[in-house]
Amino acid sequence: MEFIKHHNWRYATKKFEPSKKVSPENIATIKTAVQLSVSSYGLQLYKVLIIEDKKIREQLLPASWHQKQITEASHLFVFCNYTNVNPKQVDQYIDLTAKTRNLQLDALSGYGDFMKTKIKEKSADELFNWMKNQTYIALANLLSICAELKIDTCPMEGFEADKYNEILGLNKKGLNASVVTAIGYRDKEDHTQYLAKVRKPLDYLFETL
Ligand SMILES: Cc1cc2nc3c(=O)[nH]c(=O)nc-3n(C[C@H](O)[C@H](O)[C@H](O)COP(=O)(O)O)c2cc1C
Repeated sequence: MEFIKHHNWRYATKKFEPSKKVSPENIATIKTAVQLSVSSYGLQLYKVLIIEDKKIREQLLPASWHQKQITEASHLFVFCNYTNVNPKQVDQYIDLTAKTRNLQLDALSGYGDFMKTKIKEKSADELFNWMKNQTYIALANLLSICAELKIDTCPMEGFEADKYNEILGLNKKGLNASVVTAIGYRDKEDHTQYLAKVRKPLDYLFETL
């Protein structure tokens, strides 16, 4: 099956070829795949920064455990969750739904109120983690589309979010760097690409009831 073949090809790339750039067409496809990601209630309470600028990436390097993928990859995607939910964000989603589906706002106000009530029930920490969780769904879609496009990736949690937030000016936008992915093309000297995949056996991972 193609999907399995692509995912066996994919690995967390440690060394990228700095001279090989991902094309604007492929970046557009990746953006659409991220856009199509599912999210809780459909609210998409996150933003994604795409960083190509070398100087910014050099600044991020010490805040990324000095992992070279940060500067050697073609592009860096920084998934950022909002730190708070503003009821206006729910209203914007309701407006967008009404416009997209040609519906009256009244028909959707009950759903909007329901979401706002459910959101109010969560503590600040729960809300933060809830929004952060959504970014990982988008990350998974990015990894899948890149595997299909034969673009290499390295998902990364090995970075200091506080420093990213400061360097990238995320604090003042009410955002937090949640997870990062470097994308580009593998260097043939990256020996990890030749290693067999380590995965738990299916009969251990799954239980059929
Ligand atoms: C959320 C997340 C964070 C990760 N953080 C890092 C990281 O900071 N640096 C790194 O080299 N790999 C990182 N990885 C890669 C994993 O170590 C890797 O996916 C795992 O060992 C399985 O190997 P494979 O992806 O090559 O099949 C991360 C993966 C995920 C999903």
